[in-house]
Amino acid sequence: MGLLDIQPADRVIEVGCGPGVAVAALATRATRGRIVGVDHSAVMIRQARRRNRAAVRAGRVRLVHASVQNLPVGDGPFDAALAVNTVGMWPEPTARIREIGRMLRPGGRFAVLSQPRCPGATAATSATAAETLAETLTDAGFERLRIEMLDLDPPAACVIGYTPL
Ligand SMILES: C[S@@+](CC[C@H](N)C(=O)[O-])C[C@H]1O[C@@H](n2cnc3c(N)ncnc32)[C@H](O)[C@@H]1O
Repeated sequence: MGLLDIQPADRVIEVGCGPGVAVAALATRATRGRIVGVDHSAVMIRQARRRNRAAVRAGRVRLVHASVQNLPVGDGPFDAALAVNTVGMWPEPTARIREIGRMLRPGGRFAVLSQPRCPGATAATSATAAETLAETLTDAGFERLRIEMLDLDPPAACVIGYTPL
């Protein structure tokens, strides 16, 4: 979460939030802000709501059952967005990422993480994944890209980009 430099008043959206682990971590940082988690799986959203029950009750976290093709509007503009191990499952990822960019404020940041899960994946697989993600973010209009490799086995590729100011 340090990658996104979350501030106390930030509004953050996580797409493909799964069981809400990152949402919980984001909520501990954005203590005066708002976190919106979106997933197209009803089971995942139920688990995420259970995990984040107190923050949901306090109105600091909202968990939405929706697909990335139909993102909820009305909670933005967001300061930051996050997608962990999910972009590879999205239809037309460049178009989806462009839409996420439109939900961010000017200069808003987006972190995309991907840890290759294919059998035999190595650091080279992760490096290729990082390059591909960086190209996709560039095509979707993000600027000032930064690539970081997280020390896992295989490494997780993380690309952070900003919307134009
Ligand atoms: C591998 S899981 C990762 C979950 C979570 N980000 C994590 O790292 O724990 C991928 C998640 O993306 C969600 N997902 C996949 N395609 C999606 C789509 N088109 N719209 C919304 N969510 C999607 C899945 O339901 C699943 O919860």
